[in-house]
Amino acid sequence: MRNEDVALFESKGVSKSMLLCRRAFAGSTSLAILSVWLYRCFYFVYDYQSHAHALVWIGMFAAEVWFGLCWLLTQASRWNLIYRRTFKDKLSYRHEKELPGIDIFGCTADPTIEPPIMVINTVLSVMAYDYPSEKLSVYLSDDGGSDITFYVLTLASTFAKHWIPYCKKYKLETPCPAAYFSNSAPPTPASEDWASIRELYEEMKNRIQSVTELGGISKELRLEHNGFTGWESFSSPRDHDTILHILIGVSSSREVKGVDGCALPNLIYLAREKRPQHPHNFKAGAINSLIRVSEQMSNGPVILTLDCDMYSNSTRSLRDALCFFMDEEKGYEIAFVQFPQSFENVTRNDIYGSSLRTDMEVDFHGMDGFGGSMYIGTGCFHRRDTLCGRVFSKSQRDRGFWRKGNDNQYFIETAYDLEERLKDLASCTFEKDTQWGTEMGLKYGCAVEDVITGLSIQCNGWKSVYYNPERKGFLGLAPTSLHPTLVQHKRWSEGDLQILLSKYNPASYGFRRIHPGLIMGYYVYILWAPSSLPTLYYCIIPSLHLLIGNSLFPQISSLWIIPYAYIIFSAYAYSLAEFLWSGGTFLAWWNDQRMWLYKRTSSYFFALVDTISRLVKYSSTTFTITSKVADQDAYQRYEQDIMDFETPSPMITILVTLAMLNLFCLAGLAKQLLVDFSRTLETMILQIIQNFFLVVINLPLYEALFERKDKGKVPSSVTVKSVFLALLACACFTFLH
Ligand SMILES: *[C@@H]1O[C@H](CO)[C@@H](O)[C@H](O)[C@H]1NC(C)=O
Ligand SMILES: *[C@@H]1O[C@H](CO)[C@@H](O)[C@H](O)[C@H]1NC(C)=O
Repeated sequence: MRNEDVALFESKGVSKSMLLCRRAFAGSTSLAILSVWLYRCFYFVYDYQSHAHALVWIGMFAAEVWFGLCWLLTQASRWNLIYRRTFKDKLSYRHEKELPGIDIFGCTADPTIEPPIMVINTVLSVMAYDYPSEKLSVYLSDDGGSDITFYVLTLASTFAKHWIPYCKKYKLETPCPAAYFSNSAPPTPASEDWASIRELYEEMKNRIQSVTELGGISKELRLEHNGFTGWESFSSPRDHDTILHILIGVSSSREVKGVDGCALPNLIYLAREKRPQHPHNFKAGAINSLIRVSEQMSNGPVILTLDCDMYSNSTRSLRDALCFFMDEEKGYEIAFVQFPQSFENVTRNDIYGSSLRTDMEVDFHGMDGFGGSMYIGTGCFHRRDTLCGRVFSKSQRDRGFWRKGNDNQYFIETAYDLEERLKDLASCTFEKDTQWGTEMGLKYGCAVEDVITGLSIQCNGWKSVYYNPERKGFLGLAPTSLHPTLVQHKRWSEGDLQILLSKYNPASYGFRRIHPGLIMGYYVYILWAPSSLPTLYYCIIPSLHLLIGNSLFPQISSLWIIPYAYIIFSAYAYSLAEFLWSGGTFLAWWNDQRMWLYKRTSSYFFALVDTISRLVKYSSTTFTITSKVADQDAYQRYEQDIMDFETPSPMITILVTLAMLNLFCLAGLAKQLLVDFSRTLETMILQIIQNFFLVVINLPLYEALFERKDKGKVPSSVTVKSVFLALLACACFTFLH
């Protein structure tokens, strides 16, 4: 039994009746799925018509087996949901004097895609945590090696002198300046300070705007700050020396204090060395460099990794995370604490399904119930030693790991000497013949390095925790257009497929090391890319068979229709209920269903094709960063829930082709109905419903195709190609039969 007085956190499952309800649903649906499989087998033998028909039938069977198994996997992550709560007061009461140092790593890669103003808002928001400043260090890794980002960071360090004391004085809940000032009315009661701090912010913003518009730093500005010496050797973002600068360093020659004399967190800028002939391993490489450099400076035992668009929306998150790590009874086995990925820029009806609602509100809680959520790269607190590959051992319970920081003795030398000494740690050649990227730090060679890293930590024996408070700890920007959303999912599913094909496949790598339920939880994501094939089959073949009046499902009078009807009804009712229960709207759910289809038929399909073609003929992984800038027009359409199809890419083409194909099949069906209404309805009711569903869910697409005139409509090149392809498919199919 847990001693409730000392526990710093609490874990709760869902209520008994809810659990029973879920399990009854899971049981009955499993039975229905089994019946569907039986039906396919039975009729295959009993009703053998021709070889061609048999092939189609086997395809349907395979798709249904696949969907059934995938569904079972999703039920695993609903078996045992766990919700966490922390007791921060107890933490302060018992450990305030010995709070550990925390190192915060932000990563940015390109100032044109990730606007510098956004980056420094993130930096400022994490500097303002309700935490002893001298124990906090913020490291920004700039993989763009951009002098603009550096300059902007120097401005931020100046602004921080006013901002941090202001946040502490007024106990601000929103430590991100942009979010704080977006509300242009002064807070009540209004303070004199508000106007002056706002003016400082506006001034900084204007300066940032002018350098971003200029696209560079002028000579005069360079002279103003001696930090620009690092850029002498700079020739391109892919070819430069290490640039390391301590902008604020507690107890160093660059010590900077707030206006009221209070200490500020350390602030360090790092652009690691890049050379065209050396692979740089993207974000994983950047974080590993930060791990090494920070170890020689602040060496905080806890590390927070963040994307540069995820600002902190709560000043208490650090304390929340520590409640898990410092819990007397269970803390010693927890390796990382993952916060949900939440977004600021998602509209109510979320047309692109970017809020990942069921993943964040259900799946991750389910994985937590089996020993730990995934690590998703951002908003995650790690123990430094586990991130560096330490294996868990029960015999060496290490309760006081957080006491191991460097306690600020690291700035005995001058900042300049320190910078020079540590540069080598971020060089291209440092990792040669070391275990970095394999056993230590983040893993290399995968587009979702974070998931693999989290998995291997769990396989090293550690637990992880998913903490999803009511008030979100971090808020980021979701893509607000269709094509970027599809591209982002293509990258994710491609990375997940790489895991499936690598030695880190959870089924083999995690076997007997992590809970089978957790393995299943991982599989839900890992099977994304291959799921595209059965989905495509299911969206194309039954519809085409409408054209020739060929039935692929049980007749309306057959008893076999019952399991189908049950699955359709219960699965949709359940998913809707779950979606509404986790705070979504009906329309958002409907949009989510559409995006489910779009992602499966385009992103995942292309991820699969690309991965296979890479296996066959060698080509290397690419890493696309999702753009965080949206043009005004496009953003307006997003806010009005109008989908954007403007990019003439193959991914959009395949969506339009599918939609057109189903429309033509609907026309073919109308013809069949005219010929023999009752027989067609009698034999093909499920196929008709399915085709109808596909047409209805594509309504926004038809609108963009035929009606709309704005820039987000389907480009005419795509229209021509798609109509041609869909017609060709229908014609060939009818001709061959
Ligand atoms: C962000 O913080 C504000 C308070 O400053 C709060 O009202 C809001 O609900 C938070 N956002 C989320 C998504 O939790
Ligand atoms: C995010 O939302 C704000 C308003 O809520 C808007 O001004 C901004 O342009 C949006 N950013 C992006 C990248 O869509």
